[in-house]
Amino acid sequence: MLYSDFSLEKNCTEFSGINIYNAVNDFGTPLILYSEKRIRENVKRIINAFMPYNISIHFAMKANYNPYILNLLKSLGCGIDAANQNEAMLALKLGFNNNDVVSTPNNLDREGLAFLINNGIKINYDHLGQYKLVQDLNPEFVSFRINPGIGMGEFKEITTAGENVKFGISYDEALKSYKYAREHGAKRFGIHMMTGSNVLSAKFFKESSRLFFNIAANISKKLDISFDYLDLGGGFGVPYRDNDPDFDIKAAAGYILENFENFNGIFNNSDLIIEPGRYIIADSAVLISRITSIKNYGHTIIGTDVSMNTLIRIPLYGAYHKIYIAGKCSDDKLISADIVGQACENTDYIARNIKIPSVNDGDIVIISNAGAYIMSMASNYNLLARPAEAIILDGNLRLIKKRESVDDMLKTFYP
Ligand code: LLP
Repeated sequence: MLYSDFSLEKNCTEFSGINIYNAVNDFGTPLILYSEKRIRENVKRIINAFMPYNISIHFAMKANYNPYILNLLKSLGCGIDAANQNEAMLALKLGFNNNDVVSTPNNLDREGLAFLINNGIKINYDHLGQYKLVQDLNPEFVSFRINPGIGMGEFKEITTAGENVKFGISYDEALKSYKYAREHGAKRFGIHMMTGSNVLSAKFFKESSRLFFNIAANISKKLDISFDYLDLGGGFGVPYRDNDPDFDIKAAAGYILENFENFNGIFNNSDLIIEPGRYIIADSAVLISRITSIKNYGHTIIGTDVSMNTLIRIPLYGAYHKIYIAGKCSDDKLISADIVGQACENTDYIARNIKIPSVNDGDIVIISNAGAYIMSMASNYNLLARPAEAIILDGNLRLIKKRESVDDMLKTFYP
């Protein structure tokens, strides 16, 4: 069941105890509203699922890099997985210890990799070529990203292992790469995989972790190296559709730990790391938008102030986000309509042909699961501003990102 289904109350006029109309009055639309309580619950649920094992959670900040949220996660004991030197720089600025930051970059240049090394951040190199770019800097720690041969993601676009993906290396290539790195001065090692995003099957992690640990154990035995960490990446899913199952985190953790324990003796000195992004943040937020116009020539097209510059996941992957209308969640007379935004593209759909209550100009549209990969993927296409962001804690509302003005958006140009 979607979290928004039970956190939207009073006929969808309240989210997490806050009156949505008041939030809109204070901060306008589009607005992403987070529930701090939900973020805390999500982190706790992961920790508890792995207990008594003390799992290292490195939040994948590509899902959401709002500094308030990163600080909150720091206070909950999370580390960071950074996609590149810029994300790592933000984490360090916020006071994350470099030991608590790993980075899994893609095709970084020497400068980016050097920044990470010089700041003591552990890199999961995508392949040997990336390590070679900086081997003269003598990084003491080396980790490679393995493609264990299988992948799973909600869409093929977010499946990051298996066939036809740009990421990682096979077991054979990994063996050569670790050998090379050791011969060139690497002294400590890690190993990483990331197989895909928004996976709702706990069983998948049984298989992927088994393959991964097996590869790590073979490398460890063949080269006589031990791994400081085994990093399983992210991927834990969140239901987006009414009939999506909840992700059984307890079962996934159980499978992972069971496989891990089967290699007792080999991984005695290795930490287990996971890099969840979506699971921690997606369902903590709703995106609030306003209906700006309704076109009805036979087929109803509802225009809103949230566009593909904000919700690119929908045109990009065909993703689905459940939609509610404030004050109308208990209406039983429904119409069919498309919901669209303000961008000048015919891919600018938030939903096609969905059943919703009859609406009027000015009605408030609430879009579920807005915490992950929405703000972090938003752009200024058509010079549209990205949403403002606010967070709810104990009945109080706090702005954590203001909406950009046109001047803000133009700041970096030299006319
Ligand atoms: N670690 C690495 C190295 C990753 O590449 C990713 C996501 C994660 C962790 C976190 O995965 P999560 O737990 O959030 O599934 N933009 C897409 C998702 C792409 C995910 C790419 N990598 C979307 O909007 O669905």
